[in-house]
Amino acid sequence: MSKYNKFSKEELLALVEKQDNELASKKYGLVWDSERELEQAVLDCEHNVPVLKRVKGKEIKESKDQEDNILIEGDNYHALTVLNYTHQEKIDVIYIDPPYNTGNKDFKYNDKFIDKEDGFRHSKWLNFMEKRLNLAKDLIKDSGSIFISIDDNEVAQLKMLCDKVFGENNFISQITWHRKRGKDNSAKYLSRVHEYVLIYGKDVNKLIFNKIDLSEQTLTQYTNPENDSRGNYRKLALWRRGGQGGSKAFPFTTKEGISVPSRSWLVNEETMRRLDQENKLVVVGEGLYRKLFLSEHEGAIPETIWLDASNTANATDMIKEIFGKSIFDTPKPIELMNRILKISSKKESVILDFMAGSGTTGHAVLELNKEDGGNRKFILCTNNENKICEEVTYPRIQKVIKGYKKYGNGEKVAGLGGNLQYFKAELIKKTNNKDQLRFDLTQKCTEMLCVKENIFNLEIEKEDYKIFSSNKGGKFLCVYYNLYDESFKEFLKEIKKLKGEKKIYVFSIDGKVDRDLFKGIKDFEVEEIPQKIIDIYKQLVKMNIPVKANTIFLDFEKAQKKVLEEKDKDEGARILRIVLEKTIQKITQQNKMSIFKENNKEEKIAILNDNLYNSKVFRKVQWEENKTYLAIGNHASHGEYGEYDLKQVENFYKHIQSLFNDFGI
Ligand SMILES: C[S@@+](CC[C@H](N)C(=O)[O-])C[C@H]1O[C@@H](n2cnc3c(N)ncnc32)[C@H](O)[C@@H]1O
Repeated sequence: MSKYNKFSKEELLALVEKQDNELASKKYGLVWDSERELEQAVLDCEHNVPVLKRVKGKEIKESKDQEDNILIEGDNYHALTVLNYTHQEKIDVIYIDPPYNTGNKDFKYNDKFIDKEDGFRHSKWLNFMEKRLNLAKDLIKDSGSIFISIDDNEVAQLKMLCDKVFGENNFISQITWHRKRGKDNSAKYLSRVHEYVLIYGKDVNKLIFNKIDLSEQTLTQYTNPENDSRGNYRKLALWRRGGQGGSKAFPFTTKEGISVPSRSWLVNEETMRRLDQENKLVVVGEGLYRKLFLSEHEGAIPETIWLDASNTANATDMIKEIFGKSIFDTPKPIELMNRILKISSKKESVILDFMAGSGTTGHAVLELNKEDGGNRKFILCTNNENKICEEVTYPRIQKVIKGYKKYGNGEKVAGLGGNLQYFKAELIKKTNNKDQLRFDLTQKCTEMLCVKENIFNLEIEKEDYKIFSSNKGGKFLCVYYNLYDESFKEFLKEIKKLKGEKKIYVFSIDGKVDRDLFKGIKDFEVEEIPQKIIDIYKQLVKMNIPVKANTIFLDFEKAQKKVLEEKDKDEGARILRIVLEKTIQKITQQNKMSIFKENNKEEKIAILNDNLYNSKVFRKVQWEENKTYLAIGNHASHGEYGEYDLKQVENFYKHIQSLFNDFGI
């Protein structure tokens, strides 16, 4: 006998409906548990705002005519929040090498290592990554890209997460990188010698990638047997072979009078003539070839299997050469980073690595600049786990900029040049007094403005204003901290003396600045502080701090007591409305929609309910029921007790319970 035989028709209908709802609310894609234990780095932003604080005495200046690179010590959640103000759509390339979540003490979540037995192991990693990738996405230029190293532990999850964050159509490739020299004969089944690099463009239609240098092996095919003054070349057969497109067959006689029988060629007769005029044709028997000179080659299109981008053992050797011992476990080799940068960056690009570890990305950027005369800049961020930032990242960058002696053979390595500014991501407490917060943030945001403009040299420091100049000269950052008073006239006087571009930031209580104040000043832009910072932070914090399930449950328990035990329909309905509102907000957040309006005020619950219906998260029945119960709750709050009875309130209670089940709350 089936277990359903004992159900009444009504119960069966309710069951079918519930299952229908569940099916309808499931979309194709990756499903994982939302956070039970909120991440501290995110919670920190509930009561604080992140800023950058320059670490004095750690500035490195070896190339006065170049711009500064940046190292940020701190949680990347805070650093990325700040960068959303300073670098929105300014980053050309992001590279990250996140913890692979191997279960072997490599991934910390809320200060605890996640081991293999943790039932929420993948969910915790996905929540951690999703928040950071969402923050990072808006930093990338439309023509930019992101490269993410990963191995078998999370590659499948990461691919689907990135499809969600960056869009499946912006997926470029999944590189297989041969990471290990030699094999591990003690491996249980197979020796894993590879890992992956996932690549996404911000917008695949605008992505700019470069070809790369020809490999050593390809270069050996370019020779110059008869000493052609144009240099080494390679012979390319000009006749058409199976599957190749080409032109019609025609016989050809070179300008020297050598005839080649008719054949189907890869080029038309006109091109053939031109190649002949340019002395680029070679006849060998009945075969006709063109000379392709190395100098004509535009580079090679990169392939998706990288066997020749060094390996992790070499990366560890490099750390040993710099520090005398292996003080960091999982560095990447410079050659891997060099390949990524050659594909994705231009000479002026800005490159971000927010899981910087030992700082390989910064090192590779400096090397590539040296190699091709580029002026790429990097922003590195890493936490200071095991003092890595202070004792590995910073000293490594310092050594490669200034030059060092290799441990072991004592060989001298010349400095690559470059500059660095060292920051810590810090939190300032939000006070309830909004004006006070504006003052505090204005006082503490100067260093963020320096990072935003890449202008760091303090020229004038007064109580009410500061003026900074750029390394190359010709650009100025001018910050005024107070409400306009006598010192403002002085500030204007100083600005008038400056020759070059001026970026002026002025404190404003109401978020507005009167441009007329700057009449007579040339070549300037003015922006108010701290309103934009506050706006961006609000948006990010609200996006990321989820409505907490336990506060919903606490109210739900109260409602249970009122409705089911005390049969108090009015107070029950009033509390249930609160529970339903929070539940709708939570479901909105779970579906990555904002619970706030453009002006940062909370959106009406009825509108969220409609949004969820329009985007097919809610089914018609859920949507209609929500509407009814929101109305009952409303009547209860307004003392319109005649509008509903206890049975309806009990159903209201059951409905919320089914929402919890359907949406995994
Ligand atoms: C695998 S390592 C990166 C190694 C790097 N590619 C290299 O070549 O040295 C990952 C790094 O991310 C850092 N990290 C992990 N979680 C972080 C967080 N929330 N904020 C900042 N850094 C973090 C860790 O300290 C670690 O150094």
